[in-house]
Amino acid sequence: MVEVPKLAKDISELRYSALNHLWMHNRDWVKTGEDGGPDIVVDGNGIEVTDIEGKTWVDVNGGYSSVNSGYGRTEIANAARAQMEQMQYFPQGTTTAPLIKLAEKIASLSPGDLQRSWPVSGGSEANETALKIAKSYHKRLGDNGRYKIISRRGSYHGATGGVMWLGGGGSSRSDYEPAVPGMIYAPQPNQYRCEFNGRTDEECAIRCAEAVENLILFHGPDTVAAFIAEPVSASSLAAVPGDPYWPMVRDICDKYGILLIADEVITGFGRTGKMFALEHWEIVPDIMTVAKGITSSYLPLAATVSTSRISDVFAGEQNLFRQALTFGGHPVCAASALANIEIIESENLVNNSARTGLYLLNKLKELQENHPIVGDVRGLGLLLGLELVKNRDTKESFTPKSGMSKILNKEFRANGLILFATDKGVSLSPPLCIKRSEVDFIIDGIHKSLSTVEKELSIL
Ligand SMILES: Cc1ncc(COP(=O)(O)O)c(C=O)c1O
Repeated sequence: MVEVPKLAKDISELRYSALNHLWMHNRDWVKTGEDGGPDIVVDGNGIEVTDIEGKTWVDVNGGYSSVNSGYGRTEIANAARAQMEQMQYFPQGTTTAPLIKLAEKIASLSPGDLQRSWPVSGGSEANETALKIAKSYHKRLGDNGRYKIISRRGSYHGATGGVMWLGGGGSSRSDYEPAVPGMIYAPQPNQYRCEFNGRTDEECAIRCAEAVENLILFHGPDTVAAFIAEPVSASSLAAVPGDPYWPMVRDICDKYGILLIADEVITGFGRTGKMFALEHWEIVPDIMTVAKGITSSYLPLAATVSTSRISDVFAGEQNLFRQALTFGGHPVCAASALANIEIIESENLVNNSARTGLYLLNKLKELQENHPIVGDVRGLGLLLGLELVKNRDTKESFTPKSGMSKILNKEFRANGLILFATDKGVSLSPPLCIKRSEVDFIIDGIHKSLSTVEKELSIL
């Protein structure tokens, strides 16, 4: 174990080293240094983490919406250690018992006949693999013109070269142009910001699903390989589609022979109060991607899960799906995933996500009544979002110039919360082991933080 420094001088040396050598995700080292960072965490338990100075924080984001069973689970550490001591990897062309057991476990938990898992190390790789399987599936059936992929504005499916062109809508991709050809964008079924001004969830859902069909017809059904979406979109601040959306999209995909890929990278393993979020609508996708909560981030592991109809096309030596990723299906990660799933099941964390998530949602709705900048509160289970607005009537968003998110983030910190606001709003996805008393602590912190923002910006 790397020894954690305790003396102030050694802690500042470690920080200085980070600023000189570490390229943190989504953070620049100049601003991080100016803010006295980076924050360095050394310990965790349940929904809390402790930093190197000994201060305890509540992780309302649960890592990257990924620490489902919570911090400090020694059972998972023990499973990883035992596997590492016994067999830490595998020779080419072989596999391992934990990975086989994990693939079987995923098949048993997944809806419908999602039966076969292609193991990878993270959500982006899982989605890259899903796109390759989808395109290759059509080619192998002689349907050679299908290469286009429909995704939705406001969605996120990963950061690597191909999937970074799915979803989105911001400007952060311009450095990497030109885009992958064949990317088509559909509307996000988010009633609060419905592109069709749908007045109800249902109306917005129907119009957004119809828009998918219109796009297919416009681009030519024989050119579209797949439709990919998150069942509930975390990147659109937990936008939950109205009930007609998913059954309609399933029917539309079937009608035109287009594969439906469900990105359950965040929503899988209990996050929305069901093991997988599409179960809320009793929909079975053709391909489902899972990551994050499958190991609760104890180690990197993800999978692209296909129905037999899809995977059977790749059966037989002459039909091989040619792709290998060195760390995909690592046995130590697979053993951790099994231990993690065991905790999720034995502690009924999926139920807790549904029940405590509803409690948190209702508390957030109460906050909305007292805070004019809260435009919308939404989500399912423990994947929730607050959309923040300058003006509730016009739904005008804040801009960086307003300074809103800066003040709010400062206040979240002052109230002991690891929780990040953008000028659009705040996403909440705490570990699924959260208790009601912990929800109350979070709500109190958000309430105080919003009050300060409203006072400083003179919003009454
Ligand atoms: C819905 C969704 N899909 C895919 C990804 C990419 O996963 P990863 O960061 O593990 O590559 C993310 C990451 O946040 C995600 O939220």
